[in-house]
Amino acid sequence: SAHQWQAPLPTDSRGPCPGLNTLANHGFLPRNGSNITIAIALDAIHEGFNIKPFTLMRTIAKVGLLTTDNTDNFALEELALHGTLEHDASLSRNDLAIGDNIHFNATVFATLNNSNPGVDYYNTTSAAQVLQQRLVEDSLINPNLTNTIKEFTVRIVESAFYLSVIGNVTTGVAPKNFIQIFFSQERLPLEEGWHRSDVPIDDDNFSNLTGTIGDAITEWAPSGPIVCPWIRLQ
Ligand code: HEM
Ligand code: MG
Repeated sequence: SAHQWQAPLPTDSRGPCPGLNTLANHGFLPRNGSNITIAIALDAIHEGFNIKPFTLMRTIAKVGLLTTDNTDNFALEELALHGTLEHDASLSRNDLAIGDNIHFNATVFATLNNSNPGVDYYNTTSAAQVLQQRLVEDSLINPNLTNTIKEFTVRIVESAFYLSVIGNVTTGVAPKNFIQIFFSQERLPLEEGWHRSDVPIDDDNFSNLTGTIGDAITEWAPSGPIVCPWIRLQ
């Protein structure tokens, strides 16, 4: 069918975002990963994930467009421009300073993968703990890692994305096996029982989730080089 998962071709553009890569692998976004306008991105995110084009979602899409020199469209790989949305201490990719900030890395992903031991789900508490642990681990191998309020905010939003889209936006609980398939294969775990959120993901339920994750992070302070924590243009 139109939305069957297909592995990308070597010529297809893929980037550091497992969410958008997954939408391209299922044909909600162009499978070649290129010529993505804000409208195309927001429609695909709604169709594939039931995320409404609420203010935060529109803003992330617009910031994504700043990574390209094009006037109205981007390719998925362009999103890897370090310092616009792409940041250090990711959940599933290395830091740019260490090497590859685009492709899935199982060693990096082990922290999330092994979190919340003893149960078969992740939740807001484990997500917050993983965000803190990734910073600690990463600071040992990249002493220059950039960790301003911008990275802190973006990282919490990304954790809320995997909990809500792959799990449940109301409870913030996501099955471990679904999350593993999503990150490592960039595939929707449909055969395994996943389905698109029944509840539209919007400003209200999503900001509850980011708030809960943020509140569970008790010891965060900015670290790394002093940089202007806002936007880097292509
Ligand atoms: C990470 C862009 C929508 C899930 C990222 C990153 C970028 C990005 C540049 C890399 C950050 C980093 O880890 O260094 C975008 C843009 C979007 C979008 C421009 C909208 C137009 C989504 C959606 C989801 C999602 C709808 C829902 C599942 C994630 C997750 C990460 C991420 C879970 C963290 C990956 C990691 O830490 O390894 N996104 N994204 N994104 N994105 Fe997206
Ligand atoms: Mg990164």
